[in-house]
Amino acid sequence: MNIDQLRSELLERISTTDQPREVLKAEEIKQLYAVIPTLDPSERGPHGKAVNELKLALESAVAEREAALEDDAIMPLDVTAPWDVNTRAPHLLPTEQGTQHPLTRELENVIDIFTRMGFEAIESRQIDDDEHMFGSLNFPENHPARDGYDTFRTEEGFIPPAHTSTMQNRILKDGKAKLEAGGQIAAVSYGRVFRNEDVDATHEHTFYQCEGVFVSRDATLGNMLGTLRSFFEVYYGQKLKIKTQPAYFPFVEPGLEFAIEKPAALGGKPGEWLEMLGCGMIHPNVLKSAGIDPTVYRGFAWGGGIERLVMLKYGIEDLRHFESAKLQFLRKFA
Ligand code: DAH
Repeated sequence: MNIDQLRSELLERISTTDQPREVLKAEEIKQLYAVIPTLDPSERGPHGKAVNELKLALESAVAEREAALEDDAIMPLDVTAPWDVNTRAPHLLPTEQGTQHPLTRELENVIDIFTRMGFEAIESRQIDDDEHMFGSLNFPENHPARDGYDTFRTEEGFIPPAHTSTMQNRILKDGKAKLEAGGQIAAVSYGRVFRNEDVDATHEHTFYQCEGVFVSRDATLGNMLGTLRSFFEVYYGQKLKIKTQPAYFPFVEPGLEFAIEKPAALGGKPGEWLEMLGCGMIHPNVLKSAGIDPTVYRGFAWGGGIERLVMLKYGIEDLRHFESAKLQFLRKFA
């Protein structure tokens, strides 16, 4: 067979096979090389040149064919199809159904409990300013309490909020009219917060908080403790022991830390207390900064992390799992 004939035959093979590269190993090509020593020296040059040209042509045909095969493998994707329609290319399209991230699901659960109690739910902002982060919350200028919040700052001086308390002033201002009409303010604010902290099993630079604000003419600390107890008992689905201890937050007076006894069902021993959040009666200056008269109205507020709630509920030992995107972890919540 002459080289031209061979070329068209091999090109034909390449264009019809799914394994075009295999054609380059064809016996006929090996033969073309094997005959070289038997040729008259004057024929070797032209023969070698022809064989080289053949090889180049075949290689470019193989590359072209491979590219075409790859294009074929990308099937049109019907994103509305439930599963079977897309299963022809399972390596490209996992047909498993996705689920909500555990934090999203639990956050929705938390919000549900509060909205059923009559609280309005408002998502917190992810970029804020000094006034909402500190000023309106009764942190004096240059007060060391500001340092405790490890805030990030943009070059322009904005702050990705380090707590959801940044929403308090807005909630109070928006609710003022309700108070004056004889009603009350009852709102929770939830969302992401950010702190410039080293990450370890119990610290993340990005996490979630939920904040509550209640104001009326006669709100009491007792109302607050009842509200928080009810929340935790519904969230964990059982009766709980609670306690508080004094704590300092510039925006409440008195300020408290609220703890629950770790339930036996979740591996707790009697007397094992877990701090769940900070809370207290809203400081008069905070009410004033929203134009609310603290001699007429009073309120309580609380705020705490969502991850901590979820970790206790499911016995998760390392906070970093949440942001890890590890399927092995996420599938446990499917
Ligand atoms: N914002 C506080 C923090 O992140 C938590 C907190 C404490 C919120 C007391 C409150 C409160 O509303 O009254 O550390």
